[in-house]
Amino acid sequence: MKIIKLNATNSTNSFLKELGQNSALENFTVVVTGEQKKGRGQQESKWISEPFKNLTFSVFTNDFDLEIRHQKYLNFAISLGVFNTLAHHKIPNLSIKWPNDILSANKKICGILIENNIKGTKINSSIIGIGLNVNQEKFPDTIKNVSSLKITSNLEFDLDRLLIEIVENLKKTIHLLSLKEYLKLETDYLTALYKNKIPSMFKDKDGILFMGKIIGVSNYGNLQVELEDETTREFGVKEISFL
Ligand code: BTN
Repeated sequence: MKIIKLNATNSTNSFLKELGQNSALENFTVVVTGEQKKGRGQQESKWISEPFKNLTFSVFTNDFDLEIRHQKYLNFAISLGVFNTLAHHKIPNLSIKWPNDILSANKKICGILIENNIKGTKINSSIIGIGLNVNQEKFPDTIKNVSSLKITSNLEFDLDRLLIEIVENLKKTIHLLSLKEYLKLETDYLTALYKNKIPSMFKDKDGILFMGKIIGVSNYGNLQVELEDETTREFGVKEISFL
């Protein structure tokens, strides 16, 4: 593991991507920063984090052999790497909200941005961006349903140690991916999945509310929801929201 520690950068994902364009990166190169000026979230959103209170970091990995059609397992491995670390610290009421938010007490404490490099039909390497709210105690009113480890567990964490623990756990779950332990990854992910198999209300991209229950994740990573009439519908990330 090689860790590059910065005080500030625009985005650790962008930093690592640029570094990889100029030199060959070692597997599990990590870039962590105290502050991001332009932290990026999923679907072109921003990632806002109080400087030096939380973890904002990215990990480069290329030590797996994965067909694009199996990409959901990479997402499972990464989400579980973070989830397992937090479970070890007994963070209360933990779950993974599809595709890869980590919740504690039903509030988001961690966001993950995975940027893959594709070669032919395979994922050649990946930059895993992780924003984990650790010691932040207050959030702006404009950000809804967020929390931090400090708020939900009342514990204060050493950021350097927690970072190493997460990367060590990512190594383990990504190793399972290299071993093609897909069934284990899928079972563990579905066990941790928020609202899995629980009848719940959702909203589709046209704003229509409907009842259904999550029954799984398809090969390309779509969410599979069984509707009340027992038919199954699949949704991409932009096509469904949870109520
Ligand atoms: C999300 O929208 O939930 C994903 C958030 C990902 C944030 C992390 S912070 C470190 C890395 N660098 C970025 O610019 N984004 C990711």
